[in-house]
Order: sequence, then structure tokens, then C-alpha cells
Amino acid sequence: MKGLILAAGLGTRLRPITSLRPKPIIDVANRPLIHYAVDNLLEVGVRDIGVVVSPDTRDDLKRTLATYEDRASFTFVVQDPPEGLAHAVKVARDFLAEDPFVMYLSDNLFEHGIAPFVEAFDPDAGVAAALALVPVDDPRAFGVAELDGERVVRLVEKPADPPSNLAVAGVYVFDASVHEAIADLPRGAKDEFQITDAIQRMIQDGRRVVAGTVDGWWKDTGTPEDILDANRLVLSRSVRRIDGAVENAEIVGDVVVEEGAVVRNATIFGPALIAAGCRVEDAYVGPFTTLGADVTIRDAEIEYAVVGPGSSIHHLASRVQGSLVGAEVEITRAGRRPRAHRLVVGDKSRLVLDTD
Ligand code: G1P
Repeated sequence: MKGLILAAGLGTRLRPITSLRPKPIIDVANRPLIHYAVDNLLEVGVRDIGVVVSPDTRDDLKRTLATYEDRASFTFVVQDPPEGLAHAVKVARDFLAEDPFVMYLSDNLFEHGIAPFVEAFDPDAGVAAALALVPVDDPRAFGVAELDGERVVRLVEKPADPPSNLAVAGVYVFDASVHEAIADLPRGAKDEFQITDAIQRMIQDGRRVVAGTVDGWWKDTGTPEDILDANRLVLSRSVRRIDGAVENAEIVGDVVVEEGAVVRNATIFGPALIAAGCRVEDAYVGPFTTLGADVTIRDAEIEYAVVGPGSSIHHLASRVQGSLVGAEVEITRAGRRPRAHRLVVGDKSRLVLDTD
């Protein structure tokens, strides 16, 4: 079985973080999102992986996947412009050939991997497609499935009036009959070629489409709030490990301090991850915080946050909270009159300042 990771989206809701890097290489718990997808594919024995990219993001993605060189083989397929998930399968047709494949949306995270859905795909039982479904409170932002037992009998993309609360999560297993369904598919929601519509066609053609339920948490990471929540979920599974230098610090719970990090005169409440090269001094780091490599937190407080590599947050009067900070960012206080905000802020940034 092959894999197909879709990584060509623009990630517009994550600007400016995605202005300089593609969404699949945004870090969650100090690992690029796309690494979680590759790990889950490797875990089910899929090593021959196509990666659908945009011309702008191809090089970054190649670089971030280089660490897997010995364990997986990657074929990069350019989708330009990105015109939907079914369109991505179409452009990857040569790579996929007649093989069954797992299609994986690179911004989806699964607590317990993808084995149940790959196992549900049983060609001997006539299964042509297997989907991952998850009950959600408001399914209107997703593909939504209607079931008869384990069989999917109807699928609709982002319905105003959902037929069930079962959202389609971003991993799908297909046999080659999906290509027929895609071949002359009309544009659907958002004027894109929707995989949901292709699967609905397969159902109408009498193909057997089945579903497995997502066990544990699942996270679709479209917005900064989603990245923070995904970071929280992944950190919640971490285990305390103090390998760095710690001096005069209160460290509570599942905190990881990587080798080469320095924590001094500080309080850290886990779960938290402090990557190699960080310096945390005269500071508080609260729950659900990841500090990427070489981050400095000095005379400052931070919690429920993700800070990119090389950034520095220092000499702040108020706590930084619920914040997503990119790489090599500096946040500090003026320290002299006038008391004013001096900002160098990229396009589409969002700042919420405590202005007392
Ligand atoms: C896509 C699919 C949708 C699915 C979702 C899962 O939507 O079109 O059916 O439920 O992924 O993440 P998107 O997130 O691209 O809007």
C-alpha cells in the first residue's frame, strides 16, 4: 500500500506564521506536523509515500522530510494551483498507479494513529474505501457521513443541515476505483474538486465504503487556536524528563527539559517542553507550553503557548498566555519613557496587548 500526504494548502488562517513556512512544518510539541503523519504511515507499514506540495513549499518540505531518508521513500508531486483534495489525487495519479493508498491530510493529528482505518480497508471483503469518522458537536465545518452499520451510505461536504454528527477525519484508504470517480467530477463546495463528492459517487456506483471510529482525540489544525490545542493534547502525553541543567528551580509534573537547555531561578508547571539550547531564567513557564530550540525566557512569565526556535521573551510586566509565537521573534518591554508599544509586526498578525 502507498501513502499520499496532502501538503499543498496555503494555511491562510495561520498567517503570518504560514507566510514564511508551509503549515505542515509548523511545530507541535517541537515536531513538524507532517512528521506525525509520516510516523503514523510508517506504523502501519506504508513506506512509499507521495507528498503533494505547492511550488513554493516543495523545498521546505523536502528538507523537513530528509530525516526519514532511511525509513521511507518520498515522491514529491506539485499541485498548482491547489484545487481541492480530489484534484490532489488526480495530479498524483502517475505515482499512485493502480495501487491502494492511504490519503492523509497533513494538518490532521490522531492520538492513537491510523491502524483501525487501514485495517477496515479489506479488499477481500469488497471494500473500496475506508474512512475515519469522529463524533463532533458541530459537524458543519467537515465532511459528514451517514451510516448503515459500518457501511457509509451518504457523504456530504460541509452541510448546513448535517445528516449526523459524524465528521470525516483526514485519513482515507482507497482502491484504484477512486480514480474513476474523480475523472470527470464537477467542482463542489468552495468551487474545489471535493474528495467527499468522489466518495459519494463511489457509493452511488455501488462500491462498498466503510468507516472506523476515531479512538482518542483527533485534531484538525487550521487556526492558531487549533495549534495551541494540538500542542496541549500532545504534551498531555509527555513524560517527565530532565536532561538539561537545572538550578534553583521548582519543576512540577511532566516537564521535559532537553539536554543543552538551562533553567535557573524559575518555576515550571507541566506539561511543558523546553527544547535544547533554551535559557529560562527568573521566569515562570506554565502548563501546555512548548519552547522550541534556543528560546530565551528571562524575567518573564508564559503559559499555554508555543514559541518558535530562536525567539526571546524578556523583561515583561504581564504574562504571555494563549500565544503562538513564530521563530526568531523578540518580545520585550521598552523600559523607558515614553510608555508606548513599538511594533514591527508582519501582515495578518494579531496582537492583544495588556495596556494598563
Ligand atoms: C477537509 C475535507 C473534510 C474533512 C476535513 C478533515 O476539509 O474536505 O471533508 O472533514 O478536511 O480535516 P478542510 O479542513 O480542508 O476544510
